[in-house]
Amino acid sequence: MNHFQPVALEHASRLVNHGPTVLVTSADGARRNVMAAAWSMPVEFTPPRIAVVIDKRTYTCELVAASGAFGVCLPGTALADLTYALGSTSGRTLDKFERYGIGASRGPVLGMPLLEAGCAAWLECRLIREPHAEDAYDTCFAEVVAAAADARIFAGGHWSFREDNADLQTIHHLGGGNFVRAGGTLRARQL
Ligand SMILES: Cc1cc2nc3c(=O)[nH]c(=O)nc-3n(C[C@H](O)[C@H](O)[C@H](O)COP(=O)(O)O)c2cc1C
Repeated sequence: MNHFQPVALEHASRLVNHGPTVLVTSADGARRNVMAAAWSMPVEFTPPRIAVVIDKRTYTCELVAASGAFGVCLPGTALADLTYALGSTSGRTLDKFERYGIGASRGPVLGMPLLEAGCAAWLECRLIREPHAEDAYDTCFAEVVAAAADARIFAGGHWSFREDNADLQTIHHLGGGNFVRAGGTLRARQL
């Protein structure tokens, strides 16, 4: 059963607020790809905008530049091995969807490939072209045009990390294939 529900765009920044490692999906015509990215963050509330660092040498960068769009999917702990593999291989030499048996649906607005099985959420993003910055930086700015999340872990605009949804909890890269998962939540008290 699929538990994904649309996320209101005003809440989209919360999906990446805590710095999850993400899977960046891309497509241009018949070409498609997916890679891991540890560096992503919200940058604007309205319209919702995010930034993701996509190395210029990646196949992902080539496809994103060609189509002007990408997807951002948040893998849960159950996908840690897959995430590392997707960040250690290039789509220039293999179709990672076929190689790793990844199923993807098409984004509702831009048609980007989106992963749901094992993921906590996704955002479909339109690239904001910044010609003066593109030569100097690998940071890609984008507007979020659609978002959805698994209601077992993100609902009503809020994350809920619990023992019963550990498999869906987001992962955060420490380096060298080591991750920490979100889940040790604590609530700040008023001082
Ligand atoms: C956990 C993890 C996090 C990564 N984070 C980033 C990142 O934030 N930005 C980036 O450009 N590459 C990052 N990489 C490296 C890319 O995923 C890697 O270069 C990938 O092979 C590119 O694939 P592609 O050529 O198919 O696009 C990361 C790799 C791993 C394993």
